[in-house]
Amino acid sequence: VIKVILSLGIGYLFGCFSTAYLLGKLYKVDIRNYGSGNAGTTNALRTLGAKAGVITLLGDMLKAIIAILLVRYAIFSDVDFVQLLTLYTGLGVVLGHNYPVWLGFKGGKGIAATAGVMVAFDPWIIPIGLPLFVITVALTRYVSVGSLVVAVLLPIWVLIRTEGNLHMLIVSLIFMILAFIKHRTNIKRLMNGTENKLGHRIKVDQ
Ligand code: G3P
Repeated sequence: VIKVILSLGIGYLFGCFSTAYLLGKLYKVDIRNYGSGNAGTTNALRTLGAKAGVITLLGDMLKAIIAILLVRYAIFSDVDFVQLLTLYTGLGVVLGHNYPVWLGFKGGKGIAATAGVMVAFDPWIIPIGLPLFVITVALTRYVSVGSLVVAVLLPIWVLIRTEGNLHMLIVSLIFMILAFIKHRTNIKRLMNGTENKLGHRIKVDQ
């Protein structure tokens, strides 16, 4: 239990590094006041441009990967349930990203961070998850739909790759539930046809 709590805590600290928010500060704006109000990749792309979108994506994925590598290879390298700790560390990262204490618990939606966790958990998900995301977004033009599809893929993938490990399945389901909770407004907008399409740029006064 202590190892699980520590993994969650370490993950949370890394997750609090909000790439989109800090990047927004460089542009002298609080990104949470623009576009969808989300401190994440899609909104950075929408409000600050392509370069900021790519940096946010990489920053948010990397913080998950770094936190997990730290836990796996430096802190709990001798633990035999290291894949479970990987998921718990990743869950901490997503919680820190979505609800960062220093930003009044108003962060992002955790998809780039979850992608980082998926890659660190099992890189074999890349050839499946990446095309699935790209094709979904290309067909619908909605990043949120691609995000939710990938969020559903995670528990399915964990179920297959861990041969039905119940504990890991439950933790991976929490990732999925968090993604759906955070996309509540996107889902509402999708249902009434007002969700932002990819490529819709928003002007930001600096
Ligand atoms: O990963 C976040 C994306 O799915 C939606 O972002 O800014 O359109 O709410 P946004």
